Amino acid sequence: MQQKTDKIVVIDFGGQYAHLIANRIRRLGVYSEIALPDATRNNLKQYKGIILSGGPGSVLEPGSPDIDPAILALGIPVLGLCYGHQLIARILGGTVTRGQVREYGRATLRIAGKADLFRGLDSEEQVWMSHGDTVEKLPPAFEMLGSTDDCAAAAIGDPKRRIYGLQFHPEVTDTPHGMKILDNFIALCKCRREWNPKAYAQSIIKTIREKCGGRKVFLLVSGGVDSSVAFALLTRALGPDRVIGLHIDNGLMRYRESADILNYLKKNGFDNLKIEDASDDFLAALRGVIDPEKKRVVIGNMFILVKDRAFAKLDLNPDEWILAQGTIYPDTIESAGTKHADRIKTHHNRVDVILDLIARGQVIEPLAQLYKDEVRELGESLGLPEKLVWRHPFPGPGLGVRVLCSNGVADKIEPSASEQLDSAASAAGYRSAILPIRSVGVQGDGRTYAHPALLAGKEDWKKLEALSTGITNSMRAVNRVVYGIKAGQSLSYKLIPATVTRERLDKLRAIDRAVTEALLESGEYDTVWQMPVVLLPLVNERGDECVVLRPIVSQEAMTARFIPLRRKTLATIIKKAETIKGIGDIFFDITHKPPATIEWE
Ligand code: XMP
Repeated sequence: MQQKTDKIVVIDFGGQYAHLIANRIRRLGVYSEIALPDATRNNLKQYKGIILSGGPGSVLEPGSPDIDPAILALGIPVLGLCYGHQLIARILGGTVTRGQVREYGRATLRIAGKADLFRGLDSEEQVWMSHGDTVEKLPPAFEMLGSTDDCAAAAIGDPKRRIYGLQFHPEVTDTPHGMKILDNFIALCKCRREWNPKAYAQSIIKTIREKCGGRKVFLLVSGGVDSSVAFALLTRALGPDRVIGLHIDNGLMRYRESADILNYLKKNGFDNLKIEDASDDFLAALRGVIDPEKKRVVIGNMFILVKDRAFAKLDLNPDEWILAQGTIYPDTIESAGTKHADRIKTHHNRVDVILDLIARGQVIEPLAQLYKDEVRELGESLGLPEKLVWRHPFPGPGLGVRVLCSNGVADKIEPSASEQLDSAASAAGYRSAILPIRSVGVQGDGRTYAHPALLAGKEDWKKLEALSTGITNSMRAVNRVVYGIKAGQSLSYKLIPATVTRERLDKLRAIDRAVTEALLESGEYDTVWQMPVVLLPLVNERGDECVVLRPIVSQEAMTARFIPLRRKTLATIIKKAETIKGIGDIFFDITHKPPATIEWE
């Protein structure tokens, strides 16, 4: 009889990183899958280890997701992360309270004692936090294994029962030795490491063939790494005659991007690719739309309308074709695509029309379980050109979510919030203001939509980073912080009514192009993972619209850190911006993810 594979299960409480935990465990060589909190004791007996994920809920709220306490008595090692950590504490007789300080971003863990879970780690480790509640009293038999400044019970455990809880997230790259902690947990579970990711491309190809049966596929190709890798896999699985790629120029692309993509893909052997210019349709549908989620839905729906139109033009029989998408896992999780997850934003490939097609079995998404880093690995293993595999990611809704809109009426900002910001900023030597616009954030696994704070003063990135984290941790009205990069930076800007128009898009395209050129010239393009450039409905005293630079580094887009640019590069950008009509002052986004998302909408 064949020996059973050793597996670790991740119970998903709707945390933004639940699936990422499974991905990390697989990367460490152990097969891992996801289960929901209602999994029974009997279902879970087959696993060698159980991980309880984070989640947007609070264990203090009635009705929040729970597990059968008998699961903790199975004798299988358990690791609770964030929400999971608090749940363990509550079930086993400890207490959890609403934290005095919400903690988002980097923190330093001071490790106490010599727990097996922390074998090979230093006495102080950088960790990534995203929480409001805290474990106050430990359950009987539990030991305190580590603390941070803002959280005494950051790591707890009962080594005898092999049950551990961590308030931080070892699964994200911003906990640099997080993989070591997960590796130690695997060792505690005594798992054999048999999972071999090299076979992944082959297993995806097999799944594509099974799922398609005799049908052909129609794929929307943006030209980014995800859709290009999906295109390559589908073509390999089914042959070029059964795959058509369609690139839709939605008018929301960057400077000359659609033409470049088409040339580039054709040059690299993608002959079965067509292009459809639908920029007028997208702009007409977006006319007057201000709310970011509405814009996302309009754009997602329009993709399907244009696809249907192209389908009819090509005279394809709908019974013979299904839709393929290059969706990757963050698109699903951030769109509230798992049972308990909060909707951070609706990704363009997760609007209702598409969810309906998915429910009817008419969509295939070969990369749906993967993250960007895995897609890139797969792309390289398929022999796709490096330039394509390592392009900066670009969101499906394109510049549509980088042109911020407004009806011109500013939200009321509580004077107490401005005072609180002012006192934090001035204590660090900065001037400050709360901007009368809002952007999306992700805090404690939930969506926020709050104000950015603007700081002006000395360009000291370390100080600015600490100030930014301090402000977003302590103020509910602020989920993002920007820094004005000009000397003598103004703090006063006027909010104007503004929507997505060709004129604003052209303005953004011009500054975005200038910024990309500056990065390429300085050699910083390759150190930056992605750099959204965002146009704000805020004007300076000349009536010119302000722009945000958002350079970040990330591995899989679920967390990110802002990365400073060199002063010389910033000076070049300021100079170039002055030559672009209608572009005003430039702000630099100094917020990590969490608490702010990478894009502003
Ligand atoms: P956020 O802004 O959620 O973005 O931190 C995470 C990553 O996803 C990209 N993004 C999208 N990609 N469709 C996509 O294909 C979308 O609707 C979408 N929204 C955001 C974003 O650029 C970043 O790389």
